[in-house]
Order: sequence, then structure tokens, then C-alpha cells
Amino acid sequence: MIKIIVGTNRKNSLSHKLALIYQNSLKNLNTDAEILDLKDLPHDFLFSALYENNGKNPGFNDFHNKVKEGSKFVFIVPEYNGSFPGILKAFIDGMTYPNAFRNKKCALVGLSSGIGGGGIALSHLTDIFHYLGMHVLAFKPKLAKIEDSLSDNLLTNRLYMELLQTQAEMLIDF
Ligand SMILES: Cc1cc2nc3c(=O)[nH]c(=O)nc-3n(C[C@H](O)[C@H](O)[C@H](O)COP(=O)(O)O)c2cc1C
Repeated sequence: MIKIIVGTNRKNSLSHKLALIYQNSLKNLNTDAEILDLKDLPHDFLFSALYENNGKNPGFNDFHNKVKEGSKFVFIVPEYNGSFPGILKAFIDGMTYPNAFRNKKCALVGLSSGIGGGGIALSHLTDIFHYLGMHVLAFKPKLAKIEDSLSDNLLTNRLYMELLQTQAEMLIDF
């Protein structure tokens, strides 16, 4: 079961919409995927689940266990201030080092309001995952000006849809 991680805790995020679209693409390829949305993290996790408190917050443990049991991941990563969201780094910092991600595989999707499509955010995240020993699929779609390409829950930009579809196929074979 592939885990799709929504890389922000913003309510009604476009990242969540993309996660649903991605999950559907995988379903069409006969592959099950579960969405983990960082907005569902316990609101106090920064001060109750990290470092010396590791393992003490049941809500965070549920997320942690799902990461530990997973072997392939998709990260939907919005560009915030020229990088990926801080909550995603804090979430990664709460995982057991180095085993939660080591020798696992992931695919990254970037999105932004501007013209970057989260390219720099994906580079930053790739550095971290390589440091942790996780293999990152080299094909990383960057969905720029995302608001122009999403209508309700549909990705209306045909190129973007093809990029996600191609990546989903590559991730299955990765
Ligand atoms: C805190 C914050 C910082 C942002 N910084 C950038 C940025 O540096 N470049 C950019 O193009 N868009 C930026 N945006 C816009 C987001 O990239 C855009 O709204 C996002 O891709 C949508 O993701 P979301 O709905 O999943 O949060 C920012 C948005 C937020 C909330």
C-alpha cells in the first residue's frame, strides 16, 4: 500500500486535492494508496511527540507507525517561502532516525502559485531524503501556477495530469 503524504497542514489545501487525484490515478493502475494529511496531526505534536517525548503522543504514533510500515511514498509538496512547509520538516524530525525512511522509495510532486512549481522545495527535500537513505524517483513533476490548473477536484491541465500519471506508473515499477 503506497502512502501519499500531504505536505502541509493548511485546511482545504490544494495539496490534499492533488493527493486525491493521485490516489485515483494509482487506483486506475490497480494499486491501493492511503492518504496521510499533515493537517490531521495532533495540534500539539511539536511539544509532545518529538525528541525526549518520542512515542508518547498516541495521535503522532499512529502517523509514525504508518510511515514505519510503508515502503513506498508519494509526497505532495507545496512551495512555502521558497522551500517546503516547515510542518513537513517537523514531521520528518519526529520519525525515528534513521530507520523510518532508510532503504525506502518515494516520489515527489511540487506545486506553487508562482512559476517555480516547488522545484527548489523538491531539491531541498531530496537532499534530506538522500541523507536519510531514502531513494527518490528522479522524475519530479513541478506544477506551477496551480490555481489556474485545478477546478474543484479536477486537474484541468492535461500536461500536469499526464505528468502525474507517468510518475505513478514509474513509482509502481520503482
Ligand atoms: C506560507 C506560504 C508561503 C508561500 N510561499 C510561496 C512561495 O514562496 N512561492 C510560491 O510560488 N507560492 C508560495 N505560496 C503559495 C503556495 O505555493 C500555493 O498556495 C500552494 O502551492 C498551494 O498549496 P496548498 O493549498 O497545499 O497550501 C505560499 C503559500 C503559503 C501558505
